[in-house]
Amino acid sequence: MKYEKNDPVRLSEDGTAVEIIDQTLLPNMFKIKRLHNADEICSAIQLLEVRGAPCIGICAAYGIYICALKISAENESEFFVQLEKCAEQIGSARPTAVNLSLAVKKMLRRAKLCKGRTRDEMMAALKDEAETIHSEDIETCHIISEFGLTLMKDGDSVLTHCNAGALATSRYGTGLGTLLLGAERGYNFHAYVDETRPLLQGARLTSYELSNAGIDTTLICDNMASYVMSKGLIDACFVGCDRVAANGDTANKIGTSGVAVLAKHYGIPFYVFCPFTTIDTECKTGEDIVIEMRDGDEIKKMYFEKPVAPENVKCLNPAFDVTPAELITAIVTEKGIFYPPYDFSEK
Ligand code: MRU
Repeated sequence: MKYEKNDPVRLSEDGTAVEIIDQTLLPNMFKIKRLHNADEICSAIQLLEVRGAPCIGICAAYGIYICALKISAENESEFFVQLEKCAEQIGSARPTAVNLSLAVKKMLRRAKLCKGRTRDEMMAALKDEAETIHSEDIETCHIISEFGLTLMKDGDSVLTHCNAGALATSRYGTGLGTLLLGAERGYNFHAYVDETRPLLQGARLTSYELSNAGIDTTLICDNMASYVMSKGLIDACFVGCDRVAANGDTANKIGTSGVAVLAKHYGIPFYVFCPFTTIDTECKTGEDIVIEMRDGDEIKKMYFEKPVAPENVKCLNPAFDVTPAELITAIVTEKGIFYPPYDFSEK
């Protein structure tokens, strides 16, 4: 597997650690962090040092590989007890993105196929599985971005929420892939970027990625979305997502559903971008999607020099919300663009 400098997750050169770009430090510092075991991997995922639905899946896959390498077991059944323990721990680090549990399942399935083989053969297979998950995501993001370009014309202006670019995935990204691929091809797109409270993925990561790619980028506070839409500044909204239910309801970063409501009000198309595997038909509707709840201190303290609220005030801090299918113009995947009423078995 050939890595690039900006890949947010990779296997270390010596093959014993997972390396991530610590996204909590961006845009002020570009620092690679090494993760050596299940505890460090879970902590990095939970603290959003590595984040974005596809990216945490890739991190989990490499993570299980390095955990497997380090297992010392008397026999194969003991090896599997320990491997499943690591997989359970890593797979439950965050609940909402389907990619995390999917990657863990793929790694375990591959390990089980190697039962009875030598340890070296098992390790080679697990490394191959993690690299395949990674390289498939690169390919998927590229195809999604090509489909996205068919929805745009030169000069269009897009509003985006959170970060669904290369830092959240592989290379192009999902929600931002169209803009990044378009920039390479000489399109002049404009991006309005919601800062995305409380953890500022839009301000810190999306505006960093898009402006580095030479895209005309304007940062706004989340509560300015209605203003820019009402002024006719937005041609379309582009977002990524963490899980899509069978009926097309979609979970993405908290605040996404508000953007969709506004887009409907102003008659602006609202597009969701994701790998086809993000569609979880076991969830019938958005009601079935588990929404991660996070610490209230993120609202009161994170990214502020001093606390901005009384120490003991109650906070509600859901990390994601569900956008109802009826507010989504289309869901763009590598298998094509799906329009309502959503039937994901059609392609
Ligand atoms: O909490 P985060 O930063 O992991 O949330 C990420 C998002 O909501 C992204 O939009 C989503 O994972 C899609 S990434 C292509």
